[in-house]
Amino acid sequence: MTHTKEELDEILAFGTSLARKAGDKIQAAFLQNKNIQTKSCNTDLVTETDQQVEAMIIQDIKQCYPKHKFIGEESVADGLKCDLTDEPTWIVDPVDGTTNFVHRFPYVAVCLGFCVNKERTLGIVYNAVSGQMYTAIKGHGAFCNGKPLKVSSETDLKKSLILAEFGSARDQESLDFVFENLRSIISTPVHTIHCMGSAALNICAVAAGQAEAYFEFGIHCWDYCAASLILDEAGGVSLDTEEGELDLMARRILAAANNSIASALSSKLVHKRLPRD
Ligand code: IPD
Ligand code: CA
Repeated sequence: MTHTKEELDEILAFGTSLARKAGDKIQAAFLQNKNIQTKSCNTDLVTETDQQVEAMIIQDIKQCYPKHKFIGEESVADGLKCDLTDEPTWIVDPVDGTTNFVHRFPYVAVCLGFCVNKERTLGIVYNAVSGQMYTAIKGHGAFCNGKPLKVSSETDLKKSLILAEFGSARDQESLDFVFENLRSIISTPVHTIHCMGSAALNICAVAAGQAEAYFEFGIHCWDYCAASLILDEAGGVSLDTEEGELDLMARRILAAANNSIASALSSKLVHKRLPRD
């Protein structure tokens, strides 16, 4: 199945208004006390807002596009299969940056990726606190609140700001892996490393030219599907950490302003394979 540009424009309009509706719910809960539960470990958090917002997003998609499929973080946590087929499929993270949300740290995003024939076709990332709406349709550029996005032109890793994350695992082996990579990169030396607490907003920051690269091992398709298309459409490169083609189910990404930064960064990393989504 293919979609015309007009059809994709319509889906984008639907998706951005859905992201705003979801963002309003996140905003309303942002400063309130939250009901916090944990998932895979004590530092993998979920709140009732994550669950309610995902349920609302899926209900609205089903109502407007009954034939579309979906993969959602909280539905998968509830036991639904993470099944990406050739059918038009939404890949949804209702709240990317749940730990930020819990702590009222203002980097929290709604992510709506849309794939057709397993290809990233449309992406929406909405920072529910700042109101920044990042959008892209494959082949038609990337925008933030309607303004075109462009990546940094820096090609020297040593003059780069790198974004990274610690992830939620706290076992010794996982921490050793994270610190080995952070040590290797900071001692390159790069200008600095920041952690914003949202994979999607990290990738959008690279798309907006605010950072040269971001990498992470252990994330999920809903964390990077939408944002990685936005980066590609802003002129950047979304790759597997070992520089091959990005694999939505491989749970790892190297997002960079250009191939020079990507290659230099990839060569500094130790890599690991993860159980697929
Ligand atoms: C998490 C955030 C975080 C990243 C984790 C993700 P969530 O997503 O994107 O920055 O380090 O790997 O799981 O749980 O807040 O949707
Ligand atoms: Ca989430």
